[in-house]
Amino acid sequence: MEVFSQIEELKKEIGSSQIDSNEALEQFRIRFLGSKNIIKPIFSKIKEVPNERKKEFGLSVNELKQIAQQKFDDLQQGLASHAEQTEASKIDMSLPVNDGLGARHPIAVVMSRLIQIFERIGFAVEEEREIEDDWHNFTAMNTPDDHPARDMQDTFYLMNSTERLLRTHTSSVQSRVMTRQEPPIRIIAPGRVYRNETISARSHCQFHQVEGLYIDENVSFADMKQTLLYFAKEMYGADTKIRLRPSYFPFTEPSAEMDVWMGTETDVAKRLTKGTGWLEVLGCGMVDPNVLENCNIDSKKYSGFAFGIGIERSAMQKYDISDIRMFFENDIRFLEQFKSVI
Ligand code: PHE
Repeated sequence: MEVFSQIEELKKEIGSSQIDSNEALEQFRIRFLGSKNIIKPIFSKIKEVPNERKKEFGLSVNELKQIAQQKFDDLQQGLASHAEQTEASKIDMSLPVNDGLGARHPIAVVMSRLIQIFERIGFAVEEEREIEDDWHNFTAMNTPDDHPARDMQDTFYLMNSTERLLRTHTSSVQSRVMTRQEPPIRIIAPGRVYRNETISARSHCQFHQVEGLYIDENVSFADMKQTLLYFAKEMYGADTKIRLRPSYFPFTEPSAEMDVWMGTETDVAKRLTKGTGWLEVLGCGMVDPNVLENCNIDSKKYSGFAFGIGIERSAMQKYDISDIRMFFENDIRFLEQFKSVI
């Protein structure tokens, strides 16, 4: 019968439809599924079909309708994923990767934390040169001419000069500030320092310190102790205990080293404190009157204290880093671990 072959024709047409645009898909929809679609009038041809074939006819037309709908759904999905792919292929691989914010270097994180703590109690930040002269680094700081620290084995001198060197400590900033500024002086000086050391997991030829200096009338050892206790509590927690051990530096008298109580309960604490429970944090002392006089400050009128904090050591404790060289290798796998650190 003619109507049966018409249905077969339409099924073939649907099966072989090639559609590659939204416009073509819309044409397909109008032709087979729209309100005036081509299948609708076929249903009314049931009158012409003999009774014994009416059932077969009904099934066949319904099937045609389903095939049209299925084809439409498939085509629509195909077009959508094709669109997605072309969108993806528009990505410009030569553009720089935008991977959100970068990470701050752990040394920078510890330094800015220290600066924050001291700024809160009125210390101003001073930054000074890394290439120093012998006078500011050693002589003004009461270091005798024959002191071993001046040795070429310990200090990097520039071009075999005996005058110009890479500063061996941020204490050079003390003499810089004291020679140009009248007391009261209340500064901290963060920066990089250099020593002619064999590089190992524990020591490096470059590292960072934060220097502190307080000069005024009637500054006492008790003032220093109280300032350092405040610092330790801010840095290590409100319950922190400190102790001051006698030590020696040419530029302070008396001199001390400050330890912070870490305890021996955890393995990390045991390792860091070598089993003693006490962690060495900084060197400090009352500024030697010779240093004040070298910088033209009246040592009868003024007194003060100074301290120097090693940053690498603090950062190694804080983040449990076992090798100092990691700070200077700029291995992205190391640095990325500090992404969440603010
Ligand atoms: N400059 C000393 C050092 O590098 C630290 C220090 C600074 C000690 C200030 C006392 C006072 O080890």
